[in-house]
Amino acid sequence: MNYTKTDAFLKLKKHHELLTDQRTADLFAAEADRMDKLVLTLDDFIIDFSKNKIDKRALELLCRMAEEVDIKKGVQDMLNGRKINSTEKRAVLHTALRNLDKDFHVDGVNISLGIRDTLNAMCKLAEGVRNGMTTGYTGKRIMDVVNIGIGGSYLGPKMAIRALDKFKTPLINFHFIANVDPVSAERVLKRLDAETTLFIVNSKSWTTDETLTNAAVCREWLVERLGVEAVGAHFVAASSNVPAANDFGLLSANVFGFGDYVGGRYSMWGPVGLPLLIAIGEKNFLELLAGAAVVDRHFADTPFEKNLPVVMALVDLWNIEFLNIGDLAVLPYSTELALLPAYLQQLVMESLGKSVGADGEPIDFATSPLLFGQEGTCGQHSFYQMLHQGSKKIACDFIAPVISSTGDTRSQRKLLANMVAQAEALMIGQKPAETEPNAAFRTFVGDRPSNTILMRKLTPKTLGMLIALYEHRTYATALLMGINAFDQFGVELGKKLAMGIEKELAGTVGAHDPSTTLLINTIKEFIQ
Ligand code: F6P
Repeated sequence: MNYTKTDAFLKLKKHHELLTDQRTADLFAAEADRMDKLVLTLDDFIIDFSKNKIDKRALELLCRMAEEVDIKKGVQDMLNGRKINSTEKRAVLHTALRNLDKDFHVDGVNISLGIRDTLNAMCKLAEGVRNGMTTGYTGKRIMDVVNIGIGGSYLGPKMAIRALDKFKTPLINFHFIANVDPVSAERVLKRLDAETTLFIVNSKSWTTDETLTNAAVCREWLVERLGVEAVGAHFVAASSNVPAANDFGLLSANVFGFGDYVGGRYSMWGPVGLPLLIAIGEKNFLELLAGAAVVDRHFADTPFEKNLPVVMALVDLWNIEFLNIGDLAVLPYSTELALLPAYLQQLVMESLGKSVGADGEPIDFATSPLLFGQEGTCGQHSFYQMLHQGSKKIACDFIAPVISSTGDTRSQRKLLANMVAQAEALMIGQKPAETEPNAAFRTFVGDRPSNTILMRKLTPKTLGMLIALYEHRTYATALLMGINAFDQFGVELGKKLAMGIEKELAGTVGAHDPSTTLLINTIKEFIQ
């Protein structure tokens, strides 16, 4: 079932026509209670949806659509451990990693006991590294932690460590090696002392070529300096493939495992978050989890019209389907949240970038947005020209913690003023008098939709809430579209071909199209 099969969809098609000639800015006067309906709150969050070209009736019909596709059941199926990742026959329970006071089950087995044990073990290691009791092989304190991982095993910890810099221990530096580009490892390793470095191999599957290659490079680097006996003291891992991590030379006690019910891009709440846990400590990490759990409860229990992730998904769907605005700019007005767009690219585009439904049938409507973004105000001096005057309309998410973690108010006021102004400008536009010079060039058509997400302050709790909001928005969109948000077969073909081409670069070139053959041969020629 997807939204196009609902009765509400037919009604929305008609209703949408009534709105075509209206301007968003005029809807405020037309609807006395517009702000009550389109501004939602949760804890320290306010989300203002009112700058979207949507009215009360449309929202009402969209909520009815959500009833018809039975989002409620989709949420319950997820929380009850049903195998909603149907292609891979897996449950989806990243929520179990952060609702530690509840018991979750998969195939009748209580997975929460293991989750709590693993978290305790992680906290012990993190505390030891933070207080200097857990040392390297030669007894020296750990000063640098290197995360080796890619995709979900990289983006979450990196984004969150940057976001929570104010909560981070100053005694340890954090580094990330993700790309298989040799420069990536070299840039990090050249700054390190083997005796004081801890490597975390972060790979759910332990089959990801980039990560295994980088792990081997780092292992060789360490062995050259401290000998093979030192590996156990300088390498730990987050993985659901414990035997493979053991083969790498790691003791089981140093491998923090998790189940296949945690998808890579939903995994920062558990062992994948180990670098973050070391950075911010147990108390703050638990607050992050608690923040996400607040949103989990809200998602499960709140009526659709007040349910933040559901309304976010419904507004997205409205923009994509009815206004032909299929792409999304994520614009955090926060240097701390600068990596949020990159994080959300994987979350949203790997989850929703599908063109068959969960039933295997082709889909004939637009699915994933092209998601991009940059921290404000830097983006304003880069791509905002296109947001305001480009011929393609893009939906925007403006996001800001209101109180700066620096305590400053002067620059912060400017920052927030810019954000509010951008959202206003996108909506109201500007029509200069025809007599004005360059009037056509100074015209802003306006009516460009945006959501504004304000939180009081960026803390571990509000970061947890923010990420969980986007996770559930993504799942709610997938339910509306009838797609499986939790597989990612689209990454496989390129990986498979790369394995063959890698061999050909060192041997005989096989059969390819002329373009690919030319590229392989040119690389071979340059390499020699
Ligand atoms: O990009 C494909 C993917 O499987 C992601 O979903 C995942 O986050 C990433 O690769 C890394 O996978 P792993 O943690 O298994 O190394």
